[in-house]
Amino acid sequence: MTGLGVMVVMVGFLAIASLQSESRPCDTPELGFQCGTAISHFWGQYSPYFSVPSELDASIPDDCEVTFAQVLSRHGARAPTLKRAASYVDLIDRIHHGAISYGPGYEFLRTYDYTLGADELTRTGQQQMVNSGIKFYRRYRALARNSIPFVRTAGQDRVVHSAENFTQGFHSALLADRGSTVRPTLPYDMVVIPETAGANNTLHNDLCTAFEEGPYSTIGDDAQDTYLSTFAGPITARVNANLPGANLTDADTVALMDLCPFETVASSSYYSSSSSSSDRATADAGGGNGRPLSPFCRLFSESEWRAYDYLQSVGKWYGYGPGNPLGPTQGVGFVNELLARLAGVPVRDGTSTNRTLDGDPRTFPLGRPLYADFSHDNDMMGVLGALGAYDGVPPLDKTARRDPEELGGYAASWAVPFAARIYVEKMRCSGGGGGGGGGEGWQEKDEEMVRVLVNDRVMALKGCGADERGMCTLERFIESMAFARGNGKWDLCFA
Ligand SMILES: *[C@@H]1O[C@H](CO)[C@@H](O)[C@H](O)[C@H]1NC(C)=O
Ligand SMILES: *[C@@H]1O[C@H](CO)[C@@H](O)[C@H](O)[C@H]1NC(C)=O
Ligand SMILES: *[C@@H]1O[C@H](CO)[C@@H](O)[C@H](O)[C@H]1NC(C)=O
Ligand SMILES: *[C@@H]1O[C@H](CO)[C@@H](O)[C@H](O)[C@H]1NC(C)=O
Repeated sequence: MTGLGVMVVMVGFLAIASLQSESRPCDTPELGFQCGTAISHFWGQYSPYFSVPSELDASIPDDCEVTFAQVLSRHGARAPTLKRAASYVDLIDRIHHGAISYGPGYEFLRTYDYTLGADELTRTGQQQMVNSGIKFYRRYRALARNSIPFVRTAGQDRVVHSAENFTQGFHSALLADRGSTVRPTLPYDMVVIPETAGANNTLHNDLCTAFEEGPYSTIGDDAQDTYLSTFAGPITARVNANLPGANLTDADTVALMDLCPFETVASSSYYSSSSSSSDRATADAGGGNGRPLSPFCRLFSESEWRAYDYLQSVGKWYGYGPGNPLGPTQGVGFVNELLARLAGVPVRDGTSTNRTLDGDPRTFPLGRPLYADFSHDNDMMGVLGALGAYDGVPPLDKTARRDPEELGGYAASWAVPFAARIYVEKMRCSGGGGGGGGGEGWQEKDEEMVRVLVNDRVMALKGCGADERGMCTLERFIESMAFARGNGKWDLCFA
């Protein structure tokens, strides 16, 4: 038994709560968010990043030397978007005006006011990004101590701020490393690509008309409506029984559920080293480490949170991912940039790249060991589609929930949570390399190998003969990106 365990037995429960809350933050660079995990890992894209289980060993093999690493990151936790914020204000208003009483557990709603603002990165989100920069430094230390990443970001404030906080975390790890050989100064340079209408921006796509406003733009919402109608009815009935007069709909139920992650990630108590007395007063809400999740969270059961997670998974899959005929096409521009960086050759792309930016070594340098790009969940879903990260996964069932283990590791919470990160790493391995690329039986000893990790999960790439470590040779990886090299289905965007 650990020293902590002995003390717990001796001193009792109150000591547990305060000891743990003072010693262990909810979020660490290595593992991400680990409080209230039976709930907080089931919030779809509103989950805070957590390290996702990997069937393939995600560590860097002893016999390999990393030669290149690219991170594509989502911004950290944010307030609701402006449109959603307005709908939450309206919902709370309707409850306040309609409800004639508040059932057990619902009392807090009587005095609850929406004060989260809109769109901006929260303090929790900032800290997530600092932690992400630290983690990136540590994983790729051998490169990072000699070279800082080349940084690009989509132009919206929360994304730019996320990039800044990431570089701050990276920088602090660099300064703490006595073996580092470079002494950069903050702020690091970064290329900010505007999100304005009509801009060519591979970190925020907006050009493809048929996808943005045409027939492909409603597939995700329709799929979500189908799944919602399979599970939400009984929840809505219970909520209405507890809020007589409020007369909420299934969509309102989802909005009420949304407020659980948003209220939780808006609270900075998950990162502070001690929790306030008001935190402790509601510590039964299951946050763990003495920190509660928002009271919205305990209005719903764990199985209801799993349904909520799957609802978000369905929405992202059919809205922006492999389930949308034009989803993966939106990720093609970024993948073609990635291929250029991996191979050290100029970008060849006929989709959303900005040829002016990508043709200029100041804004698109080749030959750098580390790259960091900052983007949004929807755009990352397109990139994952273009990479074929979920090739072989059956279309998501719209009427029955599936676990991520049955879906090749896909769930919105596993793929694009707040502060999500895709790592693409290239390495050179000695000792016979990766053990025989999918039946080829051998490989050139110093041929470079590529693999893709999504929130620490090694993706089992299907198209390039990945070995048991998830690695493909650079040549076969590039070959397998034929969809991207052929510009996906970009022609359908304007058909
Ligand atoms: C994130 O970056 C901003 C801007 O530099 C800074 O003010 C803030 O303190 C940073 N957040 C954290 C958690 O370090
Ligand atoms: C491409 O980038 C250049 C340089 O930043 C910019 O002036 C131009 O407006 C961009 N074009 C498009 C279509 O995004
Ligand atoms: C509840 O709302 C529905 C529409 O969402 C409406 O048709 C119905 O009349 C409302 N019931 C009451 C009692 O207000
Ligand atoms: C922007 O993308 C469109 C569509 O592929 C392309 O026609 C145009 O040349 C691009 N503009 C720049 C500056 O790269």
